[in-house]
Amino acid sequence: MEKMNDNLTPKEIVAELDKYIIGQNDAKRNVAIALRNRWRRMNVKEEIQGEIVPNNILLIGATGVGKTEIARRLAKTADAPFTKVEASKFTEVGYVGRDVESMVRDLVEQAVSMVKVAKKELVKEKAAEAVENIILDTLIPPLKGSPHPYAVKLGSDEPEDEVELNEQTRARFREKIQNGEMDDRKVEIDVSQNSTGNMGMIGGAGMDEASMINLQEMIGNMMPKKKKKRKVTIAEARKILLEEEASKMIDMDEVKEEAISKAENTGIIFIDEIDKIASGASSGGGKGPDVSREGVQRDLLPIVEGSAVNTKYGVINTDHILFISAGAFHYSKPSDLIPELQGRFPIRVELDNLTKEDFLKILTEPKNALTKQYQALVASEDVDLTFQKDALEEIAEMAFQINEEVENIGARRLHTVMSRLLNEILFDIPDTIGPHAKIVIDKKLVQEKLEGLVQDKDLSRYIL
Ligand SMILES: Nc1ncnc2c1ncn2[C@@H]1O[C@H](COP(=O)(O)OP(=O)(O)OP(=O)(O)O)[C@@H](O)[C@H]1O
Ligand SMILES: [Mg+2]
Repeated sequence: MEKMNDNLTPKEIVAELDKYIIGQNDAKRNVAIALRNRWRRMNVKEEIQGEIVPNNILLIGATGVGKTEIARRLAKTADAPFTKVEASKFTEVGYVGRDVESMVRDLVEQAVSMVKVAKKELVKEKAAEAVENIILDTLIPPLKGSPHPYAVKLGSDEPEDEVELNEQTRARFREKIQNGEMDDRKVEIDVSQNSTGNMGMIGGAGMDEASMINLQEMIGNMMPKKKKKRKVTIAEARKILLEEEASKMIDMDEVKEEAISKAENTGIIFIDEIDKIASGASSGGGKGPDVSREGVQRDLLPIVEGSAVNTKYGVINTDHILFISAGAFHYSKPSDLIPELQGRFPIRVELDNLTKEDFLKILTEPKNALTKQYQALVASEDVDLTFQKDALEEIAEMAFQINEEVENIGARRLHTVMSRLLNEILFDIPDTIGPHAKIVIDKKLVQEKLEGLVQDKDLSRYIL
């Protein structure tokens, strides 16, 4: 079942990213090429397929300029399983020895849930029907030994017939259930419980994560599935049971197989903070930490290069997985990475620092722009919120200024500034600002609320 999204052209990918990310055209172009190249690579003759090195990407840019956002959106656009790890976590105390393969397992996990959702969608109607029957059976249980409905009609048409009466009542209730008339009524249903849930961790030293999970699953499957009775409204019951019935209807073996192939062929792994495992990363660090950093790089190599990784859903080959790594590289350079790893990230893209103009656009243009988010929030209380153009310019200007003078946290600054600006309004709704109110944010208001904070560096350090 090939999706349209599997083969978007680079231009289409960029157009899609443009809906969410302002600027960073170079990065967008390159991730689009990389994604398309993977598709191309899978469609070339097999002899040279193995020769073509995957187009893994290294994104270089300061914090909050959109690195993670680009990778995440790319995955969404391509309907690709996506997972993000911080490379530095593999060097942390306590994490040492934690196998880096876990990122691949996370990816497969992601793919499994995506495939499950898609498959459940396919059986949705059938499952809903089954759920309706279960609910109906709890409300008006069918009479024991009730013959086939048509048989009743043939046998006698006396309405007093208990069986027929039962059928009629059931038909009436079925209708009521269907049109939601009974949604608030409570019913008692059996809910199956996962017996592994409260078992805690099994295993111990010398056991890697994969086998530990496998063991846990095995034991879980050996235990009888417990059923628990719960009293819930019909509306809730429908939700709970739908999940269960749909799960029963999908074939887990098929899910596993499709998920592995989806992760292998379309998966994207985002390795953040890769600069923190480069050897130049700490200015004065001794030999110890550097060795462990290099160790992590060496552990990463086989995965990025392409190897088979064991997961509880089966073996996955990482050959075609797209790896996007990112880092600020303030204290180290890409050339501080071991050469083999550098070679695996042949595409280097530098992201631009965001300007005041970018901030202004980020506030309003993306589909999920902050102003749209806040407008939607207050709209849920029937309050209308608008921002005047010069107010937005002022917000962008202030955010930019604080970044320059205090600390550059990129577009994240907009979040803190906006939440400060709207703090009181959000508190006053709905108590003092009632429904149908119209709030207009103008430049004066922005200055009133924020100017003092912007000017006082100590204050802005804490509050903005
Ligand atoms: N160019 C941009 N266009 C739109 N929104 C952006 C842009 N850059 C950043 N943002 C917004 O800023 C926030 C932080 O961005 P993101 O997580 O991508 O930063 P990052 O570059 O990964 O930073 P870090 O190095 O700290 O991980 C997100 O909410 C994102 O939506
Ligand atoms: Mg990030």
